[in-house]
Amino acid sequence: MTHKSLVTVGLMCSVVILVSGQEPNERGIFTPAQAAAGRAKYEKTCGRCHTLTLMGREGKPEERPPVSSLSEADQQFINSFGGRVPPLAGEVFLQRWGSKTAAELVARFQDAKFSFREAGLTDDEGIVEITAYVFQVNGARAGTQRLTRATDAIVSSETSNLGSPSVR
Ligand code: HEC
Repeated sequence: MTHKSLVTVGLMCSVVILVSGQEPNERGIFTPAQAAAGRAKYEKTCGRCHTLTLMGREGKPEERPPVSSLSEADQQFINSFGGRVPPLAGEVFLQRWGSKTAAELVARFQDAKFSFREAGLTDDEGIVEITAYVFQVNGARAGTQRLTRATDAIVSSETSNLGSPSVR
């Protein structure tokens, strides 16, 4: 191949990479239905401790639900970490999880399945749905693909980098 045709091939490859690089956000990696189901489950499980805004706890009075409204077991767990619960949205969360894959996040969330028992939930799909909801609050757009335990998209390629999560 001549030098010139190599350069042409190289240019064409970069165009393909640029175009396909934008695709995931257009398509989304979870469906609106998954995020909606995830929200309902989140609020009964993780949300008890990680709060309804997903911003975690630092012991501030405005955090919802109030610690005093939780079960004895939940209160003890939170108190054993000095009343602090890490956020599942926003800058601090994305610094920790942005470079990981969606599948790794689902796997980590699976460890928190203990909180399903108290909420009277049993299904495993709930963890995937909760992950979809967490993506949505972190600014990711829903699409037609379903999130699965094998979704290998990088978290930060889906979330917005604004660091201002919102629960609507
Ligand atoms: C009873 C309170 C409680 C419940 C319910 C709970 N968590 Fe947590 N979670 C904590 C506390 C406290 C920590 C910090 C200590 C630790 O890492 O174990 C934590 C840590 C985490 C972390 C690590 C954060 C990081 O950035 O490394 C993740 C992820 C997480 N929880 C997700 C969840 C998910 C998802 C659910 C629901 C399925 C959930 N948690 C339910 C209290 C809770």
